[in-house]
Amino acid sequence: METLRVALVGFMGCGKSTVGPVLARRLGFEFVDLDLDIQETAGRTIPEIFEQDGEPAFRALESECLARCALRSRLVVAPGGGVVIVERNRRLLRSQFHVVYLRAKPTTLAERLRGEADHRPLLRGHPLEDRITRLLRERGAFYDEIASQIVDVDGKSPEAIAEEISSGLKSI
Ligand code: S3P
Repeated sequence: METLRVALVGFMGCGKSTVGPVLARRLGFEFVDLDLDIQETAGRTIPEIFEQDGEPAFRALESECLARCALRSRLVVAPGGGVVIVERNRRLLRSQFHVVYLRAKPTTLAERLRGEADHRPLLRGHPLEDRITRLLRERGAFYDEIASQIVDVDGKSPEAIAEEISSGLKSI
């Protein structure tokens, strides 16, 4: 099977937006950071969308932008960590993308996400570790369920992760 689309999924802070461009360059694919795509479509930042319209409106935009990506080929897409909570997104990801779950330990995520609540509305107003544990409990099974490949990212460079993903792609 020729892989036309790769989706990098995983929790906020797992490295999707850093690994994505490195992988895309290796494969000669385009890279789409779905959060940036959503911001361009809406003409507003993610925190503004959450504040002004609420999370459901953000999720609707996210699904719309993801569906547009599924019509393109030769691309690596990095959706936000919450994309998997919507069933239709999971179905689309499984059917149209080689899905790679970038799996990180909660301690790694906490280190990377400290001080990030300004850009990530879902991290506001809760102790960071509690929030990570709770959201991972809700989402972990979804990441597992849709993954074609799981890569443990703790302590690895973006280049090493991209290489691991490309080797996985060659074997499908
Ligand atoms: C979200 C993750 C964010 C962004 C939004 C919601 C989530 O993307 O889409 O703040 O629900 O986990 P990153 O995973 O790129 O931080």
